[in-house]
Amino acid sequence: ALATPPFAILPNATPVSVADRGLMLENPGFGRVFTDHMAIVRYSAGKGWHDARLTARAPLQIDPACSVLHYAQEIFEGMKAYRAADGSVVLFRPEANAARFNDSARRMAMPELPEGLFLEAVEQLIRIDRDWIPAVEGGSLYLRPFMFANEVFLGVKPSSEYLFLVIASSVGAYFKGGREAVSLWVSEHYTRAAPGGTGAAKCGGNYAASLAAQAEAIEHGCDQVVFLDAAERKWVEELGGMNIFFVFDDGSIITPPLGTILPGITRDSIMTIARADGIELREEAYSIDQWKADAASGKLREAFACGTAAVVTPIGEVHSTDGRFTIGAGGAGQVTSRIKQSLVAIQRGEAPDRFGWVRPV
Ligand code: COI
Repeated sequence: ALATPPFAILPNATPVSVADRGLMLENPGFGRVFTDHMAIVRYSAGKGWHDARLTARAPLQIDPACSVLHYAQEIFEGMKAYRAADGSVVLFRPEANAARFNDSARRMAMPELPEGLFLEAVEQLIRIDRDWIPAVEGGSLYLRPFMFANEVFLGVKPSSEYLFLVIASSVGAYFKGGREAVSLWVSEHYTRAAPGGTGAAKCGGNYAASLAAQAEAIEHGCDQVVFLDAAERKWVEELGGMNIFFVFDDGSIITPPLGTILPGITRDSIMTIARADGIELREEAYSIDQWKADAASGKLREAFACGTAAVVTPIGEVHSTDGRFTIGAGGAGQVTSRIKQSLVAIQRGEAPDRFGWVRPV
């Protein structure tokens, strides 16, 4: 393992004023308001990870032949820091993000990052920019760690140089207007990931590949696309940027199994909470035909999407080329609301940390 270099801390000499920051934090939305600083660490094949800095957030200079611009060797994470009731700042399961980052790195033939360096970068950034955590309902500081290939070379091979950065964005709800329930468009033409592909890695390319399908969803008046498996076009996989759960009339819950989907940390946390609360929760393939049939018969009571950005979002309606169907009453169901409450209370330090997930910063 490579040693963890210490961070040189170079505060932003011209931070956003307190008054302007206050305005920016009133209604932050998602992913548009950024903080004053960023963390950056370099990697080269010869030196390993080095030159760790916490510095003013600023544009990067990269060469036009920088390999990420051509072959998309890039991975990222998403995590949130919250201000707890006692004023302290907490992170939710950051070690799980660090571990998944390295899983993604291996899949994309990129160097792994020591867990300590990942956590240090994230925590240093939160400490220096903690005043950017919005006080609005549901507000948090969204941390975006990412790594990209930075070698100036057009040959197709793993880069010998990388940059790892962490930026932070003050966020509220992911969906505009903090909608009660979202609608989905079933993508029949496009798929997201095939067995052996990169579906389980959090690489930018997966999200680029989802955009045409997501555009189709929007054309049909839906909020999010839902993908089916690539081999049979039968099994429900996940949404454009969220995992999915189904709640049945007998109280049981299922979610699609891992393999070609993103192994969500919110997904895993919900499974753990539900099981600890005595709910029967299975990771089980669920077909689009069964979904339609169960929604029609009333066997399916609720469905919800989840992710760091989306938290827990009820799914109201599903549209496809052969019509549409409604799930339950089309709004937020009771089980979904309870799960969301339990999760959010732990994340925000409002409920006992019964699984050891909360890390003070
Ligand atoms: C997240 O939930 O953090 C995601 O990465 C999904 C999306 C915003 C890319």
